[in-house]
Amino acid sequence: MVAIPVSRLIFAALIGVAAHLAGAFAAPTESNGLGEKALEVKSRVIPSRRSTPSPPYFVEYFDAGVSGVTGAPPVSDVTGYNVFILAFLLVEGAWDNAEGWTQLTSDERSTIKSEYADAGISLMVSCFGSSDTPTSSGDDPTTLAQTFAAWVQEYDLDGIDVDYEDFDAFDAGTAEAWLVTFTTELRSLLPAGDYILTHAPVAPWFSPTMWTNGGYIEVDSQVGDLIDWYNVQFYNQGTTEYTTCAGLLNESSSTWPESALFQISANGVSLDKLVIGKPATTGDASSGYMSPSTLATCVEDAQGEGWDAGVMVWQYPDAGTSWIETVRADSWPVSS
Ligand SMILES: *[C@@H]1O[C@H](CO)[C@@H](O)[C@H](O)[C@H]1NC(C)=O
Repeated sequence: MVAIPVSRLIFAALIGVAAHLAGAFAAPTESNGLGEKALEVKSRVIPSRRSTPSPPYFVEYFDAGVSGVTGAPPVSDVTGYNVFILAFLLVEGAWDNAEGWTQLTSDERSTIKSEYADAGISLMVSCFGSSDTPTSSGDDPTTLAQTFAAWVQEYDLDGIDVDYEDFDAFDAGTAEAWLVTFTTELRSLLPAGDYILTHAPVAPWFSPTMWTNGGYIEVDSQVGDLIDWYNVQFYNQGTTEYTTCAGLLNESSSTWPESALFQISANGVSLDKLVIGKPATTGDASSGYMSPSTLATCVEDAQGEGWDAGVMVWQYPDAGTSWIETVRADSWPVSS
């Protein structure tokens, strides 16, 4: 990731203002009626053209640098998707295409945002990614959620995706409680129906037997009702992991027990929240790639068994319209 010091400084100032504004609205939740009232007032002030889409979700991330694209690509390049996610919002500020979004004027942002909305595509930001390890680094989940929620509102996006990749914290058993606090605060500031809130765990974190404090099964049992869906990363977990329809859908390997799609739902996670995430090309991940045509057959199989959550891909521009048209061809074909 390339640092641009000057814009980072400006950005840091903006974040400060945003966090300050959010502090004025947000404050304590649950037991504090004032906090809720302030949120009600705020949602009347900001005209809401947001709504949470319903499954199937066809989700594409965008972290890569693309010449001539600042923030989000032309909407005509992402036909076939209904959610597009700019990456990443980091602890130290917006980066890559999330930073690009802040570099547009507010008029440019609102024009692009309207074009996406008219095409039925929600525009979100993703936070953390592989660069941040917020739990291991000692970041406070409540204040960080406040800062990020303020950013989402300041820059007028439809929601936030939590691409938490603090592997050490799952090993240590500290990730679960951190994520529960973070998610609860985010959701209180970005209410359901007005904003989308997703998480993007790697599939093994749903294994019920591997994590001291329960992994994502525990996160889901505590705050799953606050999370709209999971962009599950079925990749980067070993060369033969999740690479056949049987291993992706029905039975994962003994390396990552009970982390195939239907095994995760059998362990209590809503099936309609489990979006299948895959890399666009072999170059977009270290492992886990399936060709779009093979993936299409898995999607068709899963649909036949009552699943409708959808597909996520990492990342634009390697997956464009033809990638998603192929993946959807046997299940939810893109109408031309
Ligand atoms: C998964 O299991 C179901 C139910 O037993 C079966 O019908 C389906 O063919 C299996 N899918 C794969 C890809 O093995």
